[in-house]
Amino acid sequence: MGDLALPHILPRVRDPRREVRKYANFLLALRARRAGAARVAHHPFDLTVDCATLCQLHCPYCAVGNSTIRRGRALMDAALHERLAADVAPDLFLAWYFSAGEPLLHPRLHEHLARTAGEEAFTVVSTNLSVPLPPARQEALLRSGLGMLSASVDGAGAATYGQYRRGGDFALVMDNLAGLARRKRQMGLRFPLLEWRFLLFAHNQHEVDAARAMATDMGLDLLEFFPGYALPPGTPGEQGVHPMTAPMPERPVSGPAYDAGLARRETLIQRLTAGQVAPTPGPANGPGDPRRCDWLYASGMIYPDGAFGPCCVATDADDDFTRLDAHPDFGAAWNAPAFTRTRAAFAAGDGSDRPEGADGMDGINGMGASHSGTGGAAGTVCDRCPLPVAQELQFVQKLRAILRNAPDWVVRILAAAPEDFFLPADHRRLPVELSALYRPEARALPQHPDVDPDVDPNVVPDALVLLRALAASHPDPELARCADILERGHA
Ligand SMILES: C[S@@+](CC[C@H](N)C(=O)[O-])C[C@H]1O[C@@H](n2cnc3c(N)ncnc32)[C@H](O)[C@@H]1O
Ligand code: SF4
Repeated sequence: MGDLALPHILPRVRDPRREVRKYANFLLALRARRAGAARVAHHPFDLTVDCATLCQLHCPYCAVGNSTIRRGRALMDAALHERLAADVAPDLFLAWYFSAGEPLLHPRLHEHLARTAGEEAFTVVSTNLSVPLPPARQEALLRSGLGMLSASVDGAGAATYGQYRRGGDFALVMDNLAGLARRKRQMGLRFPLLEWRFLLFAHNQHEVDAARAMATDMGLDLLEFFPGYALPPGTPGEQGVHPMTAPMPERPVSGPAYDAGLARRETLIQRLTAGQVAPTPGPANGPGDPRRCDWLYASGMIYPDGAFGPCCVATDADDDFTRLDAHPDFGAAWNAPAFTRTRAAFAAGDGSDRPEGADGMDGINGMGASHSGTGGAAGTVCDRCPLPVAQELQFVQKLRAILRNAPDWVVRILAAAPEDFFLPADHRRLPVELSALYRPEARALPQHPDVDPDVDPNVVPDALVLLRALAASHPDPELARCADILERGHA
Protein backbone atom coordinates (compact mmCIF):
# COMPACT_ATOMS: atom_id res chain seq x y z
CA MET A 1 0.00 0.00 0.00
CA GLY A 2 0.89 3.59 -0.15
CA ASP A 3 0.38 5.06 3.26
CA LEU A 4 -1.99 7.94 2.59
CA ALA A 5 -4.86 6.15 4.31
CA LEU A 6 -2.74 5.01 7.25
CA PRO A 7 -3.47 7.88 9.71
CA HIS A 8 -7.13 6.89 9.58
CA ILE A 9 -7.11 3.11 9.19
CA LEU A 10 -4.41 2.07 11.68
CA PRO A 11 -6.31 0.46 14.56
CA ARG A 12 -5.56 1.27 18.18
CA VAL A 13 -3.56 -1.21 20.22
CA ARG A 14 -6.20 -3.04 22.25
CA ASP A 15 -4.20 -4.61 25.07
CA PRO A 16 -3.26 -1.90 27.63
CA ARG A 17 0.09 -3.50 28.56
CA ARG A 18 1.11 -3.82 24.93
CA GLU A 19 -0.02 -0.26 24.32
CA VAL A 20 2.20 1.05 27.12
CA ARG A 21 5.21 -0.93 25.86
CA LYS A 22 4.82 0.22 22.27
CA TYR A 23 4.28 3.88 23.16
CA ALA A 24 7.15 3.84 25.69
CA ASN A 25 9.41 2.61 22.90
CA PHE A 26 7.96 5.23 20.54
CA LEU A 27 8.67 8.04 23.01
CA LEU A 28 12.28 6.87 23.29
CA ALA A 29 12.56 6.79 19.50
CA LEU A 30 11.36 10.40 19.28
CA ARG A 31 13.80 11.47 22.02
CA ALA A 32 16.75 9.72 20.36
CA ARG A 33 15.94 11.23 16.98
CA ARG A 34 15.53 14.69 18.52
CA ALA A 35 18.91 14.36 20.22
CA GLY A 36 20.64 12.93 17.13
CA ALA A 37 21.86 9.98 19.20
CA ALA A 38 24.33 7.62 17.54
CA ARG A 39 23.60 4.65 19.84
CA VAL A 40 19.99 3.91 20.63
CA ALA A 41 18.33 1.93 23.41
CA HIS A 42 14.92 1.59 21.78
CA HIS A 43 13.74 -0.75 19.02
CA PRO A 44 12.17 0.24 15.71
CA PHE A 45 8.45 0.97 15.90
CA ASP A 46 8.11 0.04 12.24
CA LEU A 47 9.92 -2.74 10.37
CA THR A 48 10.04 -4.27 6.92
CA VAL A 49 10.34 -8.03 7.05
CA ASP A 50 11.04 -9.18 3.54
CA CYS A 51 10.29 -12.89 3.49
CA ALA A 52 10.79 -13.52 -0.23
CA THR A 53 13.30 -11.82 -2.51
CA LEU A 54 12.04 -13.36 -5.73
CA CYS A 55 9.19 -12.72 -8.11
CA GLN A 56 7.42 -14.44 -10.98
CA LEU A 57 6.53 -11.16 -12.75
CA HIS A 58 8.65 -8.73 -14.75
CA CYS A 59 7.39 -5.24 -14.00
CA PRO A 60 9.70 -3.05 -16.06
CA TYR A 61 10.71 -0.38 -13.52
CA CYS A 62 10.98 -2.75 -10.57
CA ALA A 63 14.58 -3.74 -9.80
CA VAL A 64 13.40 -7.27 -9.02
CA GLY A 65 11.21 -7.51 -12.11
CA ASN A 66 13.92 -6.26 -14.46
CA SER A 67 16.66 -8.20 -12.62
CA THR A 68 18.87 -5.21 -11.87
CA ILE A 69 18.73 -5.74 -8.09
CA ARG A 70 21.99 -6.97 -6.59
CA ARG A 71 20.56 -9.31 -3.97
CA GLY A 72 20.15 -13.08 -3.85
CA ARG A 73 16.79 -14.80 -4.23
CA ALA A 74 15.75 -16.40 -0.95
CA LEU A 75 12.90 -17.29 1.42
CA MET A 76 13.09 -16.51 5.15
CA ASP A 77 13.20 -19.58 7.39
CA ALA A 78 10.95 -20.02 10.40
CA ALA A 79 13.78 -19.97 12.97
CA LEU A 80 15.10 -16.59 11.84
CA HIS A 81 11.60 -15.17 11.77
CA GLU A 82 10.87 -16.44 15.26
CA ARG A 83 14.08 -14.91 16.69
CA LEU A 84 13.23 -11.61 15.07
CA ALA A 85 9.58 -11.60 16.11
CA ALA A 86 10.29 -12.59 19.71
CA ASP A 87 12.76 -9.72 20.00
CA VAL A 88 11.06 -6.82 18.23
CA ALA A 89 7.40 -7.53 17.43
CA PRO A 90 6.20 -6.40 20.90
CA ASP A 91 7.56 -2.91 20.14
CA LEU A 92 6.22 -2.61 16.61
CA PHE A 93 3.20 -0.63 15.53
CA LEU A 94 3.72 -1.59 11.90
CA ALA A 95 5.33 -4.50 10.08
CA TRP A 96 5.57 -4.48 6.29
CA TYR A 97 5.89 -8.01 4.93
CA PHE A 98 7.11 -7.15 1.45
CA SER A 99 9.85 -5.28 -0.30
CA ALA A 100 12.11 -6.87 -2.89
CA GLY A 101 9.86 -9.57 -4.29
CA GLU A 102 6.51 -11.27 -4.11
CA PRO A 103 5.56 -12.19 -0.52
CA LEU A 104 2.93 -14.78 -1.50
CA LEU A 105 5.72 -16.91 -2.98
CA HIS A 106 6.61 -17.69 0.64
CA PRO A 107 4.52 -20.78 1.48
CA ARG A 108 4.48 -20.05 5.26
CA LEU A 109 3.81 -16.34 5.05
CA HIS A 110 0.54 -16.68 6.99
CA GLU A 111 2.42 -18.22 9.94
CA HIS A 112 4.89 -15.34 10.06
CA LEU A 113 2.04 -12.85 9.85
CA ALA A 114 0.16 -14.56 12.65
CA ARG A 115 3.20 -14.47 14.94
CA THR A 116 3.71 -10.75 14.50
CA ALA A 117 0.03 -9.84 14.45
CA GLY A 118 -0.27 -11.72 17.75
CA GLU A 119 1.84 -8.96 19.29
CA GLU A 120 -0.60 -6.38 17.89
CA ALA A 121 1.72 -5.07 15.21
CA PHE A 122 -0.34 -4.01 12.18
CA THR A 123 0.95 -6.19 9.35
CA VAL A 124 0.75 -5.18 5.69
CA VAL A 125 1.31 -7.30 2.59
CA SER A 126 1.56 -5.81 -0.88
CA THR A 127 1.17 -8.53 -3.48
CA ASN A 128 0.74 -8.94 -7.22
CA LEU A 129 -1.85 -11.62 -6.31
CA SER A 130 -1.01 -13.42 -9.56
CA VAL A 131 -0.56 -16.77 -7.83
CA PRO A 132 -3.04 -19.63 -7.50
CA LEU A 133 -4.75 -19.21 -4.13
CA PRO A 134 -6.82 -22.28 -3.24
CA PRO A 135 -9.62 -21.68 -0.72
CA ALA A 136 -7.57 -23.10 2.19
CA ARG A 137 -4.73 -20.65 1.55
CA GLN A 138 -7.14 -17.74 1.22
CA GLU A 139 -8.65 -18.71 4.53
CA ALA A 140 -5.25 -19.05 6.21
CA LEU A 141 -4.30 -15.56 5.05
CA LEU A 142 -7.61 -14.08 6.13
CA ARG A 143 -7.37 -15.73 9.55
CA SER A 144 -3.72 -14.86 10.15
CA GLY A 145 -4.42 -11.52 11.80
CA LEU A 146 -3.03 -9.71 8.75
CA GLY A 147 -3.97 -6.02 8.94
CA MET A 148 -4.05 -5.15 5.26
CA LEU A 149 -3.66 -6.99 2.00
CA SER A 150 -2.90 -4.55 -0.80
CA ALA A 151 -3.22 -5.94 -4.32
CA SER A 152 -1.09 -4.27 -7.00
CA VAL A 153 -3.37 -4.20 -10.02
CA ASP A 154 -2.48 -1.51 -12.54
CA GLY A 155 -5.38 -1.74 -14.92
CA ALA A 156 -9.12 -2.36 -15.07
CA GLY A 157 -8.76 -4.87 -17.91
CA ALA A 158 -6.28 -7.49 -19.08
CA ALA A 159 -4.82 -5.40 -21.90
CA THR A 160 -3.81 -2.39 -19.82
CA TYR A 161 -2.88 -4.51 -16.78
CA GLY A 162 -0.40 -6.60 -18.74
CA GLN A 163 1.57 -3.62 -20.01
CA TYR A 164 3.15 -3.02 -16.60
CA ARG A 165 2.50 -6.31 -14.74
CA ARG A 166 4.35 -8.34 -17.35
CA GLY A 167 3.73 -12.05 -16.84
CA GLY A 168 0.73 -11.41 -14.59
CA ASP A 169 -2.66 -13.04 -15.15
CA PHE A 170 -5.41 -10.43 -14.80
CA ALA A 171 -8.25 -12.96 -14.62
CA LEU A 172 -6.50 -14.90 -11.85
CA VAL A 173 -5.75 -11.71 -9.90
CA MET A 174 -9.34 -10.48 -10.04
CA ASP A 175 -10.65 -13.91 -9.18
CA ASN A 176 -8.39 -14.01 -6.12
CA LEU A 177 -9.38 -10.51 -5.05
CA ALA A 178 -13.09 -11.15 -5.42
CA GLY A 179 -12.72 -14.52 -3.67
CA LEU A 180 -10.88 -12.98 -0.72
CA ALA A 181 -13.54 -10.28 -0.39
CA ARG A 182 -16.34 -12.82 -0.51
CA ARG A 183 -14.68 -15.18 1.95
CA LYS A 184 -13.82 -12.34 4.33
CA ARG A 185 -17.48 -11.31 4.39
CA GLN A 186 -18.57 -14.89 5.01
CA MET A 187 -16.09 -15.21 7.87
CA GLY A 188 -17.36 -11.97 9.39
CA LEU A 189 -13.88 -10.46 9.66
CA ARG A 190 -13.04 -6.78 9.92
CA PHE A 191 -9.37 -7.37 9.03
CA PRO A 192 -7.45 -7.74 6.82
CA LEU A 193 -8.52 -4.65 4.96
CA LEU A 194 -8.53 -5.51 1.27
CA GLU A 195 -7.09 -2.81 -0.95
CA TRP A 196 -6.80 -2.43 -4.69
CA ARG A 197 -3.71 -0.34 -5.39
CA PHE A 198 -3.60 1.03 -8.93
CA LEU A 199 -0.38 2.60 -10.25
CA LEU A 200 -1.26 5.22 -12.83
CA PHE A 201 0.71 5.46 -16.08
CA ALA A 202 -0.03 7.08 -19.45
CA HIS A 203 -1.50 3.81 -20.75
CA ASN A 204 -4.03 3.15 -17.93
CA GLN A 205 -4.97 6.60 -16.62
CA HIS A 206 -8.33 6.51 -18.43
CA GLU A 207 -9.47 3.54 -16.30
CA VAL A 208 -9.94 5.34 -13.00
CA ASP A 209 -13.74 5.33 -13.13
CA ALA A 210 -13.89 1.72 -14.28
CA ALA A 211 -11.65 0.64 -11.38
CA ARG A 212 -13.82 2.56 -8.91
CA ALA A 213 -16.94 0.75 -10.10
CA MET A 214 -15.23 -2.65 -10.00
CA ALA A 215 -13.83 -2.08 -6.49
CA THR A 216 -17.29 -1.15 -5.23
CA ASP A 217 -18.84 -4.20 -6.90
CA MET A 218 -16.31 -6.51 -5.29
CA GLY A 219 -16.88 -4.94 -1.87
CA LEU A 220 -13.24 -3.93 -1.35
CA ASP A 221 -12.31 -1.85 1.68
CA LEU A 222 -9.95 0.57 -0.07
CA LEU A 223 -8.91 1.77 -3.50
CA GLU A 224 -5.75 3.79 -3.97
CA PHE A 225 -4.43 5.49 -7.08
CA PHE A 226 -0.76 6.38 -7.09
CA PRO A 227 1.50 7.78 -9.82
CA GLY A 228 3.69 4.94 -11.07
CA TYR A 229 7.34 5.74 -11.51
CA ALA A 230 8.28 5.61 -15.19
CA LEU A 231 10.52 7.44 -17.63
CA PRO A 232 9.18 9.68 -20.40
CA PRO A 233 9.32 8.38 -23.97
CA GLY A 234 12.79 8.62 -25.51
CA THR A 235 14.65 8.85 -22.17
CA PRO A 236 17.60 6.45 -21.93
CA GLY A 237 16.49 3.41 -19.93
CA GLU A 238 12.78 3.87 -20.60
CA GLN A 239 10.89 0.59 -20.71
CA GLY A 240 7.93 1.29 -22.99
CA VAL A 241 5.75 2.38 -20.06
CA HIS A 242 5.46 6.12 -19.48
CA PRO A 243 4.41 8.54 -16.72
CA MET A 244 0.78 9.51 -16.41
CA THR A 245 -0.11 12.78 -18.11
CA ALA A 246 -3.59 13.34 -16.63
CA PRO A 247 -4.05 15.15 -13.32
CA MET A 248 -4.23 12.93 -10.25
CA PRO A 249 -7.77 11.72 -9.53
CA GLU A 250 -9.61 13.93 -7.09
CA ARG A 251 -9.87 11.19 -4.47
CA PRO A 252 -6.64 9.19 -4.66
CA VAL A 253 -7.79 7.09 -1.69
CA SER A 254 -11.38 5.99 -1.26
CA GLY A 255 -13.50 3.15 0.07
CA PRO A 256 -15.62 2.29 3.10
CA ALA A 257 -12.63 1.67 5.40
CA TYR A 258 -11.25 5.13 4.63
CA ASP A 259 -14.62 6.81 5.20
CA ALA A 260 -15.03 4.99 8.50
CA GLY A 261 -11.48 6.00 9.48
CA LEU A 262 -12.17 9.66 8.82
CA ALA A 263 -15.12 9.48 11.22
CA ARG A 264 -13.10 8.00 14.12
CA ARG A 265 -13.17 10.02 17.35
CA GLU A 266 -11.74 7.46 19.79
CA THR A 267 -8.78 9.48 21.03
CA LEU A 268 -8.13 13.03 22.11
CA ILE A 269 -5.99 13.86 19.07
CA GLN A 270 -8.65 12.46 16.76
CA ARG A 271 -11.24 14.67 18.47
CA LEU A 272 -9.06 17.79 18.57
CA THR A 273 -8.20 17.51 14.88
CA ALA A 274 -11.63 16.43 13.62
CA GLY A 275 -12.32 17.68 10.11
CA GLN A 276 -8.85 19.17 9.61
CA VAL A 277 -7.14 18.18 6.40
CA ALA A 278 -3.40 17.60 6.60
CA PRO A 279 -1.54 19.48 3.87
CA THR A 280 0.94 17.66 1.66
CA PRO A 281 4.27 17.97 3.48
CA GLY A 282 6.53 20.58 1.93
CA PRO A 283 10.16 20.40 0.85
CA ALA A 284 13.05 19.99 3.20
CA ASN A 285 14.30 22.24 5.94
CA GLY A 286 17.08 24.73 5.38
CA PRO A 287 20.44 25.28 7.02
CA GLY A 288 20.29 25.30 10.81
CA ASP A 289 17.28 22.99 10.91
CA PRO A 290 18.52 19.80 12.58
CA ARG A 291 18.65 17.02 10.09
CA ARG A 292 18.12 13.30 10.60
CA CYS A 293 17.08 10.34 8.55
CA ASP A 294 13.91 8.99 10.16
CA TRP A 295 14.70 5.47 8.99
CA LEU A 296 17.67 5.25 11.34
CA TYR A 297 15.48 5.86 14.41
CA ALA A 298 12.18 4.34 13.32
CA SER A 299 12.64 1.31 11.14
CA GLY A 300 14.85 -1.00 9.09
CA MET A 301 14.84 -3.72 6.46
CA ILE A 302 15.33 -7.39 7.24
CA TYR A 303 15.95 -9.73 4.33
CA PRO A 304 15.34 -13.52 4.21
CA ASP A 305 19.01 -14.38 4.82
CA GLY A 306 19.19 -12.18 7.93
CA ALA A 307 20.81 -9.24 6.17
CA PHE A 308 19.88 -5.92 7.80
CA GLY A 309 19.63 -2.89 5.54
CA PRO A 310 18.98 0.70 6.60
CA CYS A 311 15.91 1.47 4.48
CA CYS A 312 13.79 0.60 1.44
CA VAL A 313 15.74 2.98 -0.74
CA ALA A 314 19.04 1.09 -0.53
CA THR A 315 17.98 -2.28 -1.92
CA ASP A 316 21.26 -3.85 -3.05
CA ALA A 317 23.06 -6.29 -0.75
CA ASP A 318 26.28 -4.20 -1.04
CA ASP A 319 24.46 -1.45 0.87
CA ASP A 320 23.39 -3.61 3.85
CA PHE A 321 24.60 -2.44 7.25
CA THR A 322 25.00 -5.76 9.05
CA ARG A 323 23.54 -9.22 9.54
CA LEU A 324 21.31 -10.29 12.42
CA ASP A 325 23.34 -13.45 13.07
CA ALA A 326 26.47 -11.40 13.74
CA HIS A 327 24.91 -10.03 16.95
CA PRO A 328 23.42 -11.44 20.14
CA ASP A 329 20.15 -9.58 19.67
CA PHE A 330 18.34 -7.07 17.51
CA GLY A 331 19.39 -4.08 19.64
CA ALA A 332 23.06 -4.92 19.15
CA ALA A 333 22.54 -5.26 15.40
CA TRP A 334 20.78 -1.86 15.23
CA ASN A 335 23.81 -0.38 16.96
CA ALA A 336 26.33 -2.02 14.61
CA PRO A 337 29.09 0.37 13.54
CA ALA A 338 27.44 1.23 10.20
CA PHE A 339 24.32 2.39 12.08
CA THR A 340 26.09 4.43 14.75
CA ARG A 341 28.48 6.02 12.23
CA THR A 342 25.60 6.99 9.97
CA ARG A 343 23.46 8.46 12.75
CA ALA A 344 26.50 10.40 13.96
CA ALA A 345 27.27 11.65 10.45
CA PHE A 346 23.72 13.00 10.05
CA ALA A 347 23.93 14.76 13.41
CA ALA A 348 27.38 16.17 12.62
CA GLY A 349 26.35 17.30 9.16
CA ASP A 350 23.07 18.98 10.20
CA GLY A 351 21.92 20.83 7.10
CA SER A 352 25.42 21.42 5.78
CA ASP A 353 25.13 19.82 2.36
CA ARG A 354 21.59 20.86 1.74
CA PRO A 355 21.18 23.50 -0.92
CA GLU A 356 17.81 25.27 -0.83
CA GLY A 357 15.10 22.88 -2.10
CA ALA A 358 17.59 20.07 -2.68
CA ASP A 359 15.31 17.42 -1.28
CA GLY A 360 12.06 18.72 -2.70
CA MET A 361 9.41 16.66 -4.41
CA ASP A 362 10.38 18.11 -7.76
CA GLY A 363 12.11 15.17 -9.41
CA ILE A 364 10.56 12.83 -11.90
CA ASN A 365 7.18 11.59 -10.68
CA GLY A 366 7.78 13.27 -7.37
CA MET A 367 11.12 11.59 -6.77
CA GLY A 368 13.80 14.03 -5.60
CA ALA A 369 16.74 14.07 -7.95
CA SER A 370 19.41 15.47 -5.61
CA HIS A 371 22.21 13.46 -4.04
CA SER A 372 21.98 14.99 -0.57
CA GLY A 373 23.38 12.49 1.92
CA THR A 374 24.45 12.46 5.53
CA GLY A 375 26.38 15.70 5.19
CA GLY A 376 29.13 13.80 6.97
CA ALA A 377 31.29 10.83 6.18
CA ALA A 378 29.71 7.62 7.43
CA GLY A 379 31.21 5.43 4.74
CA THR A 380 27.76 3.95 4.06
CA VAL A 381 25.22 4.28 1.26
CA CYS A 382 23.66 7.15 3.24
CA ASP A 383 26.53 9.48 2.30
CA ARG A 384 25.07 9.33 -1.21
CA CYS A 385 21.41 8.69 -0.39
CA PRO A 386 19.65 7.45 -3.54
CA LEU A 387 16.36 9.16 -2.60
CA PRO A 388 16.76 11.98 -0.06
CA VAL A 389 13.02 12.67 0.20
CA ALA A 390 12.79 9.30 1.95
CA GLN A 391 14.84 10.62 4.87
CA GLU A 392 12.14 12.88 6.15
CA LEU A 393 8.94 12.18 4.25
CA GLN A 394 8.51 8.41 4.40
CA PHE A 395 7.41 8.40 8.01
CA VAL A 396 4.99 11.31 7.90
CA GLN A 397 1.82 9.22 7.58
CA LYS A 398 3.14 6.59 9.99
CA LEU A 399 3.91 9.20 12.65
CA ARG A 400 0.52 10.79 12.12
CA ALA A 401 -1.20 7.40 12.47
CA ILE A 402 0.62 6.56 15.71
CA LEU A 403 -0.01 10.01 17.18
CA ARG A 404 -3.69 9.93 16.25
CA ASN A 405 -4.07 6.64 18.16
CA ALA A 406 -2.09 7.84 21.17
CA PRO A 407 -3.74 7.24 24.54
CA ASP A 408 -4.21 10.18 26.90
CA TRP A 409 -1.06 9.50 28.93
CA VAL A 410 1.13 9.77 25.84
CA VAL A 411 -0.55 13.02 24.84
CA ARG A 412 0.13 14.37 28.31
CA ILE A 413 3.86 13.58 28.09
CA LEU A 414 4.24 14.99 24.58
CA ALA A 415 2.19 18.10 25.35
CA ALA A 416 4.27 18.89 28.45
CA ALA A 417 7.41 19.35 26.35
CA PRO A 418 6.82 18.95 22.60
CA GLU A 419 10.22 20.41 21.74
CA ASP A 420 11.91 17.56 23.64
CA PHE A 421 10.35 15.05 21.28
CA PHE A 422 9.93 16.72 17.91
CA LEU A 423 12.26 18.39 15.46
CA PRO A 424 11.48 21.88 14.15
CA ALA A 425 10.83 20.28 10.75
CA ASP A 426 8.04 18.18 12.30
CA HIS A 427 5.87 21.30 12.57
CA ARG A 428 5.92 21.43 8.78
CA ARG A 429 5.54 17.69 8.40
CA LEU A 430 2.83 17.03 10.99
CA PRO A 431 1.13 20.41 11.43
CA VAL A 432 -2.33 19.10 12.29
CA GLU A 433 -1.36 16.57 14.96
CA LEU A 434 1.39 18.72 16.48
CA SER A 435 -0.80 21.77 16.81
CA ALA A 436 -3.23 19.64 18.83
CA LEU A 437 -0.48 19.09 21.40
CA TYR A 438 -0.35 22.85 22.06
CA ARG A 439 -4.07 23.05 22.80
CA PRO A 440 -5.02 23.56 26.47
CA GLU A 441 -7.09 20.35 26.35
CA ALA A 442 -3.92 18.32 25.66
CA ARG A 443 -2.08 19.78 28.63
CA ALA A 444 -5.04 19.62 30.99
CA LEU A 445 -5.40 15.86 30.98
CA PRO A 446 -5.77 14.21 34.37
CA GLN A 447 -2.37 13.27 35.74
CA HIS A 448 -2.97 9.57 35.94
CA PRO A 449 -6.34 8.04 36.30
CA ASP A 450 -8.39 5.92 38.23
CA VAL A 451 -7.37 2.30 38.85
CA ASP A 452 -5.54 0.79 41.77
CA PRO A 453 -4.07 -2.67 41.01
CA ASP A 454 -3.66 -3.34 44.75
CA VAL A 455 -7.40 -3.17 45.19
CA ASP A 456 -8.32 -5.49 42.32
CA PRO A 457 -5.62 -7.67 40.77
CA ASN A 458 -7.76 -8.17 37.66
CA VAL A 459 -7.59 -4.49 36.95
CA VAL A 460 -4.80 -3.48 34.60
CA PRO A 461 -2.45 -1.12 36.40
CA ASP A 462 -2.62 2.41 35.10
CA ALA A 463 -0.13 3.69 32.56
CA LEU A 464 2.09 5.36 35.13
CA VAL A 465 2.54 2.11 37.08
CA LEU A 466 3.31 0.21 33.88
CA LEU A 467 5.67 2.90 32.66
CA ARG A 468 7.56 2.97 35.96
CA ALA A 469 7.90 -0.82 35.81
CA LEU A 470 9.33 -0.65 32.28
CA ALA A 471 11.65 2.21 33.21
CA ALA A 472 13.05 0.27 36.18
CA SER A 473 14.72 -2.25 33.88
CA HIS A 474 15.29 -0.14 30.78
CA PRO A 475 18.81 1.02 29.93
CA ASP A 476 17.60 4.43 28.72
CA PRO A 477 17.01 6.86 31.64
CA GLU A 478 14.75 8.87 29.35
CA LEU A 479 11.94 6.46 30.15
CA ALA A 480 12.02 7.37 33.84
CA ARG A 481 11.99 11.00 32.74
CA CYS A 482 8.83 10.34 30.71
CA ALA A 483 7.25 8.77 33.80
CA ASP A 484 8.21 11.87 35.82
CA ILE A 485 6.51 14.08 33.26
CA LEU A 486 3.41 11.92 33.40
CA GLU A 487 3.32 12.08 37.18
CA ARG A 488 4.23 15.70 37.76
CA GLY A 489 3.65 17.45 34.43
CA HIS A 490 7.38 18.07 34.11
CA ALA A 491 10.61 16.07 34.39
C1 LIG B 1 8.55 -4.18 -5.38
S1 LIG B 1 6.89 -4.39 -4.99
C2 LIG B 1 6.88 -5.84 -3.97
C3 LIG B 1 5.51 -6.31 -3.58
C4 LIG B 1 4.68 -7.02 -4.62
N1 LIG B 1 5.42 -7.85 -5.47
C5 LIG B 1 3.87 -6.01 -5.41
O1 LIG B 1 4.15 -5.80 -6.58
O2 LIG B 1 2.94 -5.44 -4.82
C6 LIG B 1 6.61 -3.11 -3.77
C7 LIG B 1 5.75 -1.98 -4.25
O3 LIG B 1 6.39 -1.32 -5.33
C8 LIG B 1 5.38 -0.91 -6.21
N2 LIG B 1 5.90 -0.57 -7.53
C9 LIG B 1 6.30 -1.37 -8.51
N3 LIG B 1 6.65 -0.66 -9.60
C10 LIG B 1 6.45 0.63 -9.31
C11 LIG B 1 6.59 1.85 -10.03
N4 LIG B 1 7.02 1.87 -11.29
N5 LIG B 1 6.26 3.00 -9.42
C12 LIG B 1 5.82 3.01 -8.14
N6 LIG B 1 5.66 1.89 -7.39
C13 LIG B 1 5.97 0.71 -7.98
C14 LIG B 1 4.47 -2.11 -6.21
O4 LIG B 1 3.22 -1.85 -6.80
C15 LIG B 1 4.38 -2.41 -4.74
O5 LIG B 1 3.39 -1.59 -4.12
S1 SF4 C 1 5.16 -7.90 -8.94
FE1 SF4 C 1 6.18 -6.58 -7.44
S2 SF4 C 1 8.19 -7.49 -7.04
FE2 SF4 C 1 7.33 -8.49 -8.86
S3 SF4 C 1 8.26 -7.44 -10.55
FE3 SF4 C 1 6.27 -6.46 -10.13
S4 SF4 C 1 6.66 -4.79 -8.66
FE4 SF4 C 1 8.47 -6.13 -8.73
